[in-house]
Amino acid sequence: MDVDALVAQGQELIDAILRRRLSVPEIKGMIEAGAPVWYQDDDGNSPLHAAAYVENEDLVKLLLDEGAIWNAVDNLHNTAGDVALSLNNEKCYTTIRDAGIRSELLLTLLQKRAPAANSPLNIILKATDSTPAGSTDAFLQTRLEYTKDEHGQEICLVKVADQEEVGVMMGWERGIMQETVRRLCVDHENLNEGLKVLNVGFGLGIIDSLFQSLSSKPSLHVIIEPHPDVLKHMREQGWHEKPGVKILEGKWQDFVESEELLSVGGFDVIYTDTFSEDYAELHRFFGHVPDLLAGPESRFSFFNGLGATNATFYDVYTHVSDLHLADVGIDVEWSDVDVFEGDTDRWGKTREYFAMRTYRLPVGRMRTL
Ligand SMILES: C[S@@+](CC[C@H](N)C(=O)[O-])C[C@H]1O[C@@H](n2cnc3c(N)ncnc32)[C@H](O)[C@@H]1O
Repeated sequence: MDVDALVAQGQELIDAILRRRLSVPEIKGMIEAGAPVWYQDDDGNSPLHAAAYVENEDLVKLLLDEGAIWNAVDNLHNTAGDVALSLNNEKCYTTIRDAGIRSELLLTLLQKRAPAANSPLNIILKATDSTPAGSTDAFLQTRLEYTKDEHGQEICLVKVADQEEVGVMMGWERGIMQETVRRLCVDHENLNEGLKVLNVGFGLGIIDSLFQSLSSKPSLHVIIEPHPDVLKHMREQGWHEKPGVKILEGKWQDFVESEELLSVGGFDVIYTDTFSEDYAELHRFFGHVPDLLAGPESRFSFFNGLGATNATFYDVYTHVSDLHLADVGIDVEWSDVDVFEGDTDRWGKTREYFAMRTYRLPVGRMRTL
């Protein structure tokens, strides 16, 4: 295959779309004659980006049907979906986003048969990242540092490479945790008798402290945490001695089907946030949630942070998790939390894993028949 010829055809395809002179059937003709829909020019623009720029919904559909890659990013890290979003073109945007959702659902199905399938989302979500930020085993073997940042807020950092430190849990997430606890607990019908709470992943203990500060303390508060440095920090802070608190030292995967959890007879509230795990793991956790919840009044939430470096990925990922939870009988109510309230610079590099202004907060309940 002549690479130069392919590049030329790809560039012609992009140019033709941007010039808006050719009809959709004519563009289809170019593709049939061999113009590659996956081509990206020096700026990272693909034919799908071009179709989004000229706001041609039919062309967007044609390109997706012909195999255009919904999640290709240009040099500014924008997908074609982001381009449509920036132009306020809802139709083009939803067409691209829905292609993303379909492709992710399909890939999850394929993954069940062949676990190593390369999901585009998993690439975004760093499943192939073997540094502590993307691999649980590497993360569990890496020293963590609890410290205070220059604003006096407690933070927990993990070293990813020699120079790079990533925040495992940052103070800016406190607002999200507060709203999560409010939506999970405050009007819960069992609140006054003390909720049975399960939290997976202690981190800075923000959410666990909030659970402990409810108007009625939890009657049972189980925390699952595997990291030795986090467990040490918890011990120093006296979490092991708190009445009603039970700490399970290990990964959730070790306990999820254990007598210790199942004998509780169901939790009123479950929350999970396990930095370093990918979507496939979270999806696996979803499958266990119905067995762990007490009943239809019980609630489940998770840290909805995957894919949050980019608006389209975040939206796709949010929809995919909504559909996967629906699959296991959990309906989710989503609400928006303004994360930065105008204070966009405060957390600098440490919040690069969450670039969205709005956090989409999930609260799931078992569907009643
Ligand atoms: C982002 S922090 C959680 C922050 C917490 N929500 C808070 O409010 O401070 C993630 C935690 O999950 C833990 N973790 C990672 N993998 C886990 C697993 N497989 N099972 C349980 N916990 C895990 C990490 O050690 C870390 O303490």
